[in-house]
Amino acid sequence: MAEAAPENEGDEVVRAWRTLAPLMDLVTPMALRAAATLRLADLIADGSGRIDDLARQSAADQDALGRMLRHLVCHGVFTEPEPGRFDVNAAAELLRSGHPAGLRLGLDLDGFGGTMDLAFTGLLHTVRTGEPAWETVFGKPFWPYLAAHPEMAASFDAVMSSADAFVTDAAGGYDGSTARQVADVGGGTGAFLVELLEAHPDLRATLIDLAGGRERGLDDYTDLASAAGPHIAGVHTTPLGHVVLDCVPR
Ligand SMILES: C[S@@+](CC[C@H](N)C(=O)[O-])C[C@H]1O[C@@H](n2cnc3c(N)ncnc32)[C@H](O)[C@@H]1O
Repeated sequence: MAEAAPENEGDEVVRAWRTLAPLMDLVTPMALRAAATLRLADLIADGSGRIDDLARQSAADQDALGRMLRHLVCHGVFTEPEPGRFDVNAAAELLRSGHPAGLRLGLDLDGFGGTMDLAFTGLLHTVRTGEPAWETVFGKPFWPYLAAHPEMAASFDAVMSSADAFVTDAAGGYDGSTARQVADVGGGTGAFLVELLEAHPDLRATLIDLAGGRERGLDDYTDLASAAGPHIAGVHTTPLGHVVLDCVPR
């Protein structure tokens, strides 16, 4: 005779499915990225929200776009107040360009944000070998890849400095009262250093980053140059291929 099922075993199985099912889903994360890439939150908020308009404005297939949007509606992103017309809700608002969280850029499959996410298709390689997945997926190691793709390098810099609120909070977390000189090694285009200099205008600051294939023009450091108080005292490259930029108080 078969053993009686332990009490509540059914509940446990349901809980197990509820845990596992969302973790198996690749459709929703990709739908979110596709929606961010097509700037659907902006188009819907600023337009009629009708699927025919959206398909035209985003140069997408109307039927496929509608199905994808309905999938996101089912997961709580966007609403469909009437058939074929979509609206932006609080979750979709987070995907708008210019939102201080910088999410849209971070999910954009045409830029660095979404491309970086695709590197996770190589996770098994990393787990098997302990090596980074980037080269397996994109054909070159990470920094050489960026050096060979200037548009992706620019997008990388944009993503790094896009979350204004995060950069401001991070810079505000430093006690600059005792420091006279800071060095930001791997400081990118200086978004973090700008905030630090705004908060502590008497600091001397040095930014060091990769030059070479990723050489950034001085124009990229305009914000740094105009930050309150300090100004750029010098910029030079080293034989090891670094760009070094010094700021001193005015
Ligand atoms: C994660 S990003 C940080 C960006 C920057 N802190 C910001 O807030 O925008 C890492 C930076 O490290 C730089 N980097 C990578 N390898 C480096 C190296 N060997 N020496 C100096 N900088 C390097 C990259 O060019 C990139 O700008």
